[in-house]
Amino acid sequence: MRVEERVRELLNRMTLAEKIGQMCQVTGGTEEHKDLVRQGRVGSILNVSESEAPDRARVSNDFQAAAVKESRLGVPLIIGRDVIHGFRTVMPIPLGQAASFDMPLVEEAAAVAAREASACGINWTFAPMVDVARDPRWGRIAEGGGEDPLLTSRLGAAMVRGFQGPDPAHPERIAACAKHYVGYGAAEGGRDYNTTWIPEGLLRDVYLPSFKACVDAGALTLMSAFNDLNGIPATGNPWALRQVLKTEWGFGGFVVSDWASVEEMIPHGLCSDKPEAARAAVAAGVDMEMVSACFSEHLVQLVEAGRVPMELIDDAVGRILGVKFQLGLFDSPYTEEARSNVLLTDGHLDVAKRLATESCVLLKNDEALPLPGDMGSLAVIGPLADAPVDQLGCWTMDGRGEDTVTPLQALREALRGRCDVRHAPGLPDCRSTDTAGFAEARRVAGDCDAAVLFLGEDAGLSGEAHCRAFLDLPGAQEELVAALADVGRPVIAIVMTGRPLTLTGIVEHVNALLVAWHPGTMGGPALADLLLGVSSPSGKLPVSFPRTIGQVPVYYAHKNTGRPAPPGKEGVPVGTPLDPESFFSTYLDMHHSPLFPFGYGLSYGAASYSNLKLSGPALSMGETLEVAVTVTNDSAVAIEEVVQLYVRDPVASLTRPVKELKDFMRVPLAPGESRKVSFALGTEHLAFHNGDGQRIVEPGVFHVMVGGSSQDVLKAEFTVTD
Ligand code: BGC
Repeated sequence: MRVEERVRELLNRMTLAEKIGQMCQVTGGTEEHKDLVRQGRVGSILNVSESEAPDRARVSNDFQAAAVKESRLGVPLIIGRDVIHGFRTVMPIPLGQAASFDMPLVEEAAAVAAREASACGINWTFAPMVDVARDPRWGRIAEGGGEDPLLTSRLGAAMVRGFQGPDPAHPERIAACAKHYVGYGAAEGGRDYNTTWIPEGLLRDVYLPSFKACVDAGALTLMSAFNDLNGIPATGNPWALRQVLKTEWGFGGFVVSDWASVEEMIPHGLCSDKPEAARAAVAAGVDMEMVSACFSEHLVQLVEAGRVPMELIDDAVGRILGVKFQLGLFDSPYTEEARSNVLLTDGHLDVAKRLATESCVLLKNDEALPLPGDMGSLAVIGPLADAPVDQLGCWTMDGRGEDTVTPLQALREALRGRCDVRHAPGLPDCRSTDTAGFAEARRVAGDCDAAVLFLGEDAGLSGEAHCRAFLDLPGAQEELVAALADVGRPVIAIVMTGRPLTLTGIVEHVNALLVAWHPGTMGGPALADLLLGVSSPSGKLPVSFPRTIGQVPVYYAHKNTGRPAPPGKEGVPVGTPLDPESFFSTYLDMHHSPLFPFGYGLSYGAASYSNLKLSGPALSMGETLEVAVTVTNDSAVAIEEVVQLYVRDPVASLTRPVKELKDFMRVPLAPGESRKVSFALGTEHLAFHNGDGQRIVEPGVFHVMVGGSSQDVLKAEFTVTD
């Protein structure tokens, strides 16, 4: 029987209470919850167990047995968990994964996470997070793909493919959940859960495409967000959920609310009480309520009173059952407990190491890296050199410090017998202002041939509800850099972070600067390889790094304004008298450009771009243009270069950004090698949404730009005709 028929057949046998039971999700594998499962009053559990594998699989199986064998209709549970960037094998944070621009590898990493999580009885992850975020104060910027809609879309789609595979019913695959629908990353002031105001055109051009990409990649579920979106909380927003997602896009999976986001429509000020919150959520298109109990306590009465139409309940339950069928849960609800031997296999650790390597972004290098092979001694300094839990980053419920290899451990291992590795943390932790360890750090650095300095944010400074009003290195870390600046040795700073930080205060004091994000379980070996030149950095920034907090939001795809600053008009020294010539869109006390732009990242080689050629000067609607460029590795080192294609529509009926990323390609280049790289640019890539929400392409002149960052590009023009 086809899934639709099986769903219909089952729905016909369900009581109203059983149907609503499917729409309820509880957290924790308690006995009370097991009873509710037996009564058919729960359709899903998250965090069913915190125990170690294989016990975890056993607990999940117990709950499945309660559902399958002891409830009247035997409908299996869908068991959820936040498997955000790996399970036991922790991958770099998603923002770091985005920096790799390597989508096949991102897909492989998600498949690893699915294999490990499924072995512990998990059927469903609440990932990928595809909220475009342009404000680094927001702690959850760590969980997504950064500031760009195309990069975030590709990242999300790759993760969906990795989690679900070609057949989500395969025992090693799990359902994905694209979240948080929608606009959550645009929280005012970068403060989590805060209000968002996003005009429809911007929503459709910037915040919705990544969700559409996940739906197109087959995502079985979506999560509605916490935020108030233009006056209607996303969890009660019929425009976003019912009109755009379910009607326009034809999404056939189900929508789960975020944690208590149904009930939170009361404090938001949309609903007066829990029954009203339940009604608003179902009417808007939420199919399952996470944790709060508005559905379980009130939906039966609401339906009986005619306040919630039965068709909406049938639609919601049909979607949930449909996903359970597609996951194969009716046919094989249990997890083979012996499968937990897949955790942390060599193959999984290898994926984690490769992704950590590719996610690191080299921002500065005064020939200090790679470290010379003949060093006699190396100073390893900084609070994050040996912080196994912090390098895992936020949202790693199943990651363990004891599985993690730190940079200190990895450098000791790699240099054993040939170089003396000396450790002096300087600061006990990232947030510390206790400078008592500075003298020792200075002494050790001065005694060694070079110093590598591991700085940044601990894992607790990013993630949900972990927002910051300042973006500088916390504690006395800038002072630690300053203290080492005059020891007369090369100082290499490696920054582990969940967000862009303002590095203006340290960049001049260090000889090299590498951003490693929170690199995960295998961060140490990846960094040792990069520092020692076994591999070359190849990541590019998925988000702009501001010079100072006062610039935020600063992102590459901004509008031009009526008074763009001319080149070179970057910041006016304080005290300069204003004259009319200076009335540009700038700051008086700081450059207006970011410190490091989107797409930027160096390697140990040198990629140069030449010969930008278009297949023709014009194309008509529906046609495709070939954009070709020659990329050359002018060095003696093998590198991988992320070639980026941007477009600008300089005149349109709604003004367009100065640049928009339309495609990218990771290109391996042997020493001295030149390659022709071609992109197919169709007129559909030039579309934007007008004020009525229609997707349009307007004829006229377009600029195309190709390069190794958003700011360093070759340019050409073409025309689109009717
Ligand atoms: C977060 C979600 C997460 C959920 C379940 C919420 O607080 O916003 O991203 O999936 O909890 O843990």
